[in-house]
Amino acid sequence: MRTTIFAIIVLAFGFPTDTYAQQQPTLKDAYKGCFLVGAALNPAQFSGEDPREEALVKSQFNTISPENVLKWEVVHPHPGTYDFSLADKYVEFGQLNHMFVIGHNLVWHSQVPQWVFEDENHNPVGRKVLLKRMRDHIHKVVGRYKGRIKGWDVVNEALNEDGTLRQSGWIKIIGDDYIEKAFRYAREADPQAQLYYNDYSLENEAKRKGALELVSKLKAKGVPITGVGLQDHVQMDWPTADQIDATITEFGKLGVKVMITELDVDVLPAATPSGTADASLSVASDPKLNPYPNGLPEPVQQELSKRYADLFGTYGKHCGLVSRVTFWGVTDKESWKNNWPVKGRTNYPLLFNRDAEPKPAFGSVIQAVPKSVS
Ligand code: XIL
Repeated sequence: MRTTIFAIIVLAFGFPTDTYAQQQPTLKDAYKGCFLVGAALNPAQFSGEDPREEALVKSQFNTISPENVLKWEVVHPHPGTYDFSLADKYVEFGQLNHMFVIGHNLVWHSQVPQWVFEDENHNPVGRKVLLKRMRDHIHKVVGRYKGRIKGWDVVNEALNEDGTLRQSGWIKIIGDDYIEKAFRYAREADPQAQLYYNDYSLENEAKRKGALELVSKLKAKGVPITGVGLQDHVQMDWPTADQIDATITEFGKLGVKVMITELDVDVLPAATPSGTADASLSVASDPKLNPYPNGLPEPVQQELSKRYADLFGTYGKHCGLVSRVTFWGVTDKESWKNNWPVKGRTNYPLLFNRDAEPKPAFGSVIQAVPKSVS
């Protein structure tokens, strides 16, 4: 009976906006004096299909990132064919709700169609052709949302673990300067947008060194880079708070904004070497790698809360220099971590459970707000 009445209310008036999620102090309010707090969204959360999660997003976050809808393979699947249907909805949702809207991403080795690097006979194209394709794509996509998308991940994951440049399709054809070209094209297309370099495992020493050198070189050449995104797809025991602290400090010294752009905490046994978040990796499933299919045991739940408290304790030490902390997803239910790097696992990486309710880790994040801003 109660369910029926609730269903009638939802049908008549929409999902109630004063649910549990709004009654708590919210993430965005708690961290107001420190940094923006955001989440990566999938279409169900911004197109009216999942009112419960949409209400949660509106109440908790003041910045959003597109989990997939702005990637090359989605907006530009075939030569000359652009599809902005989902991206337009995403940007409208952000604007309507006064959120800082992020664009992710422009130049990456993953989720980019093979045709981009080939001619009609499937032979590799030359530097000139690929540069033109890159410029056209950036102008079209950035230009469409000029003034509305406030910050762009211009280049994503250009580095190997040892800090050298990844041998992607981009570098093989264009050369090392594909990175600076991408930033310059983005600046041409939107003179105001913030422009970021985004990568994972920058807390590991060798990769961090490579990234610091890359950013310094770009800045020395006058390339318009405004920030660095630390993805922070972290594990329970990696990276340490000290590694994160040092990484934020070091990038801060270069005079760029620092953002945590894709935060989640993997509670399952590691299936890949520490730190990698290469979306193109895949590991065979094995029950040993999926120990909590029916719920997270209480001790692990508590460990996760503590991990989140430490993470936000560290981010909070850098209020202002860290301008944004974005989670890679909203609830555990749709997190990419259920399917990467092993398909079909049950993971618990975020602050909201599969019923969109706050987990104990939510409380620890709220508690971790630095005294100076609370
Ligand atoms: C992931 C998405 O979450 C998945 O849905 C998709 O299948 C693969 O990509 N680093 C990034 C993100 O920069 O774009 C990736 O997102 C996760 C790793």
